[in-house]
Amino acid sequence: MCGIVGYTGPQSAVTPLIEGLRRLEYRGYDSAGIALGTSDKLFVEKKAGKLSNLESALGSVPAVHSGIGHTRWATHGGPTDRNAHPHLDNEGKLAVIHNGIIENYSELKAELEKHGHKFQSETDTESVAHLLSDLRKEHNGNLTIAMREAVKRLRGSFTLLAVHADQPDLIVGVRRNSPLVVGLGDGENFMASDVAAFIEYTKRAVELGQDEVVTITPTSISITDLEGNALKPREYQITWDAEAAQKGGYPHFMLKEIFEQPKAVADTLLGRMIDGRISLDELNLSDAELKSLQKIVVLACGTAYHAGLVAKYAIEKWAHIPVEVELASEFRYRDPIVDKNTLVIAISQSGETMDTLMALRHAKEFGARVLAVCNTNSSTIPRESDAVIYTHAGPEIAVASTKALLTQIVATFLIGLHLAEVRGSLNSSQVSEIYNEMLELPSKLEQILETVEPLRELTRKFTEKNTVLFLGRHVGFPVALEGALKLKELAYIHAEGFAGGELKHGPIALIEEGTPVIAIVPNTHEHGLDEKMLSNIQEVRARGAKVIAIASEGIEIPGAAHIIRIPNSPQMLQPVLATVPLQVFAYEMACARGTDVDQPRNLAKSVTVE
Ligand code: AGP
Repeated sequence: MCGIVGYTGPQSAVTPLIEGLRRLEYRGYDSAGIALGTSDKLFVEKKAGKLSNLESALGSVPAVHSGIGHTRWATHGGPTDRNAHPHLDNEGKLAVIHNGIIENYSELKAELEKHGHKFQSETDTESVAHLLSDLRKEHNGNLTIAMREAVKRLRGSFTLLAVHADQPDLIVGVRRNSPLVVGLGDGENFMASDVAAFIEYTKRAVELGQDEVVTITPTSISITDLEGNALKPREYQITWDAEAAQKGGYPHFMLKEIFEQPKAVADTLLGRMIDGRISLDELNLSDAELKSLQKIVVLACGTAYHAGLVAKYAIEKWAHIPVEVELASEFRYRDPIVDKNTLVIAISQSGETMDTLMALRHAKEFGARVLAVCNTNSSTIPRESDAVIYTHAGPEIAVASTKALLTQIVATFLIGLHLAEVRGSLNSSQVSEIYNEMLELPSKLEQILETVEPLRELTRKFTEKNTVLFLGRHVGFPVALEGALKLKELAYIHAEGFAGGELKHGPIALIEEGTPVIAIVPNTHEHGLDEKMLSNIQEVRARGAKVIAIASEGIEIPGAAHIIRIPNSPQMLQPVLATVPLQVFAYEMACARGTDVDQPRNLAKSVTVE
C-alpha cells in the first residue's frame, strides 16, 4: 500500500513523478503529494483524495530536475492534506515519503519533541523526517549516512525515500519488508515501488534486498548495507512493456484484464510440456525430494487464497499428497505442523503481500521448502522463496484480481501434474490428456468473452439488490467464494459464497423473495455432484430465490431463472472458465452502481501492511 516514486535527471521532474504516481495509484489513493528538489527550500504540494486533486492543485511548478512523489493508503492518521506525504523537517528542507509502518514512531516522536521538533501531522512517517534531519546534521550533511543510521533506529516495515534541498539531485532510499526498485536510465535514474512507474523510460532495473540503502543521482547509483559496505547492484531486464500498463482503449483496467485472460493463461502454459513431460525446471527440487514430500501447505490471501483452494482439489487428486490451504494472515499465529518434508506454496500476484511474506518466513523457521507462485518479477516473496514459478499474466493494475487468479490456478495445476508424474500417481498419457485439456482453456475463454453481452444486460436487472449469494460444490466452491469477493469489493454489495452442502446448516435462512443466488453447476456426475447442486437450486428457489446458474452446455437446469453457459471442460478445470462470468457480473454491477471499478473504496492493490 502506498506508491512511491523518485526521479533525478534532465527532465522537468514533475512529469515523470505524476506519470509514475498515476501508474502506482492502484497501491493507494487516499492522498497524493510531491516534493521537488529546488535549492534553498523544497517545493511541496500535497492533497487528500485522488491524484487528480493534486494535479488540479499544482499551479506553476518550478522546472527542476529531481523530486519524490507519493500516493497514500492511510494507516496512521486520516486521509487529510496534512497527513499526506511528503513529510518535512522543521526547516522545510528535507522531505520523506514512506510505504509501510514505523512501529516505534511514538517513542521516536516523544524523543524528538523533547529536542524541540514540532510535528505537523498524525502520521508515523513524520518522525523519520525529523530523525533524518538531526542525523544528517550530525553526519556533516551526508543524507546517505543519515539514512543508514536512521534505519537502525526504526522498527516495522518500510520503504523510505528522502531528498534535501542542499543536494537536490540526490535521492536516498531504503527498504525493509516493503518494495523498492531502481530504474537505470540514460543520464537519469528512478526509484519506485513498482517498475510500472518508470517502465516508459527504461527497461533496466535493479533489485534491492532487505535493509539496503541506495543513493541515486542522474548519473550514479550506489548501494550499501547498514554498515556502509558497498554492494554490487543486481540488474535485471524488465519484460513488461509500457503499453501493458495502459488501458488500451478499455474504459477500465479491470475490463482490459478480464479480456487479457485467454492470452495470460496461454502464456502461463507456454513451453510447459517437453517430450511428453511437464517441464518445471524452476522448481529447484530433485525428483527424490519431490517423492519424499509428505504434505503441501498453500499460503495466500484473498483471491490468491481461492486459487489455493482450487489447487487443493487438483493436487490431492492427481498427486495423492495432502494439501492444506491456509489464510496467510492466520497461519503465522499458529504452531504449524510443517517440516523439511513439507512444501509450502506461497501464492501472490504482487509478491509483496505482507501477510503472505510473514507466513512464508514462519514456515521456513520450521524447515519447510517454499515455492512461490508469483506474477511480479524479483518481488520480495519470490526472492525469499527457495524457488518460483512465475505466472505470465502481465501487469495487473486494477485492484480487483482477475487474470492473476486464472494464471495462479493454471500454475498450481502444472505443479500438481508434475508431482503426479514424478511420484507415479498418474502415468504419462493421463498427464498429457489433462495438459491437452488445459491447452484448450484459452480458446474456451475466448468463447466466453465473445458471449458476455447477454450477461451484461442480465446484470442490470439485479443492480438494486443488497444481497447476492453464491453456491458451489467441489472446485465450484472456491469459485463461489471468488464471485462473492469480487462483488463485495467492486459493487459494495453484501455477498457470500457457500458450499452447496452447507446451505441447510444455516445460510438458507438468508433466502427471501427475490434474493439472487448464483449457482455454479458442477460438470460431473461423479459423487452425484451435479444432482446435488440441482437439488440446492430447487431448495433455494422454493424459498423465493432467483437463481442464475453457471453451467456447461447441454446440462438442463430446472428452476433456474437464467442460465449462463460456459464451454464443457473436465470438472477440475471448470474454475478457470466459471470464474469469468462472475468477474463480468461484478464489473457490470459496479459500473451500474457507479462505484470506482479500478480503485474501489478503502482498498489497495498490494497490501504491504499486516
Ligand atoms: C482480490 O481482488 C484482491 N485484490 C485481493 O484479495 C488480493 O488477491 C490479495 O490481497 C492478495 O494479493 P497478492 O496476490 O498480491 O498477494
